[in-house]
Amino acid sequence: MVQLTLPKNSKIQQGKTWNAPDIKGAWREIRVYRWDPEDGENPRLDTYWIDADQCGPMVLDALIKIKNEIDPTLTFRRSCREGICGSCSMNIDGTNDLACLKGLDEVKGPVAIYPLPHLEVVKDLVGDLTNFYAQHRSIEPWLKTDTATPPKEWKQSRDDREKLDGLYECILCACCSTACPSYWWNSDRYLGPAALLQAYRWVIDSRDEATGDRLDNLEDPFRIYRCHTIMNCAKTCPKGLNPAKAIAELKKLMAAFLRFAAVLRAAGLRAAGLRAADLRAAGLRAAEVLRAVDLRAVDLRAAGLRAALRAVDLRAAGLRAADLRAAVLRAAGLRAAEVLRAVVLRAAGLRAAGFFALRAGAFFTVVLAIRVLSL
Ligand code: SF4
Ligand code: SF4
Ligand code: FES
Repeated sequence: MVQLTLPKNSKIQQGKTWNAPDIKGAWREIRVYRWDPEDGENPRLDTYWIDADQCGPMVLDALIKIKNEIDPTLTFRRSCREGICGSCSMNIDGTNDLACLKGLDEVKGPVAIYPLPHLEVVKDLVGDLTNFYAQHRSIEPWLKTDTATPPKEWKQSRDDREKLDGLYECILCACCSTACPSYWWNSDRYLGPAALLQAYRWVIDSRDEATGDRLDNLEDPFRIYRCHTIMNCAKTCPKGLNPAKAIAELKKLMAAFLRFAAVLRAAGLRAAGLRAADLRAAGLRAAEVLRAVDLRAVDLRAAGLRAALRAVDLRAAGLRAADLRAAVLRAAGLRAAEVLRAVVLRAAGLRAAGFFALRAGAFFTVVLAIRVLSL
């Protein structure tokens, strides 16, 4: 049966007020979620009072002051206090944010602080990010290449580098993912905006040679397609990034990629007809579609082409894996349409050879039969 209320042991109780303003000052009321898995108690909301004149300007400064001077048991994550490490993400005044970037003066009235929503709580303001990090790892956020490593560095043009702006700045604070309703309900299968923004960052990196494999890896009803463009992620990102846009771009690439694979499959099927005219037509049509989906614009390079060629299953047409590999390697220096034509013609050549071999075999069988009968 659907449970519409929180279980009893999850209800947040009124907690303790640790200190009250006693002397004149700019006092701010800070209400903090507290929960300790070891004491068996319900979560509670404790109240602390901070003299803003004696404290740094940010919410993180207030938390550090509380921990240092009032309640050393208060637990939260932080490291850089510069908005760089992403450790101090929490829900402040109803919004996911970084405590080190959120000014106390940005909040009117009492400052309510909770852990990031829809995460299991480890203690107080610390949420369990194990799944979040595992999902980030699943998109393999590192440069993947097949070609030999250059002696100095992987070069990138200025234009290609600029394509990564708005993506590389992500600090994996999880504010976006934990603000996403789709992620709340499907975080076991939907990768969420942070991991998908990172996935897009690697898909469009001009130095990476695993584009096709990366897109293949996302092809699943849940991993990417649970984003319904609700835009909470873009609204909450403390670094001003737009994961929703990155996800939309990824979806476009996936659609182009799938269309490309379908065209190649059609070309492969036509190749089974063995007529040179058909083959040429198939190659030309594929070239047209390649141009139409502007695959050069999405930088579908040799690696991506390889994954698409796999879908065609050229091996079924008689090509050996080594032939396919050789064809794909040649693709590095050629335009996709040219390579496609080369591969298809190669398939035709092999099939034609097989055809003539068959014809020759039949001819010699007939000659042999005539000779046997004439004996
Ligand atoms: S996209 Fe923004 S909110 Fe999401 S993890 Fe990266 S920095 Fe944090
Ligand atoms: S746009 Fe997509 S990723 Fe962002 S909050 Fe909405 S559903 Fe989640
Ligand atoms: S402490 Fe590093 S981002 Fe806030």
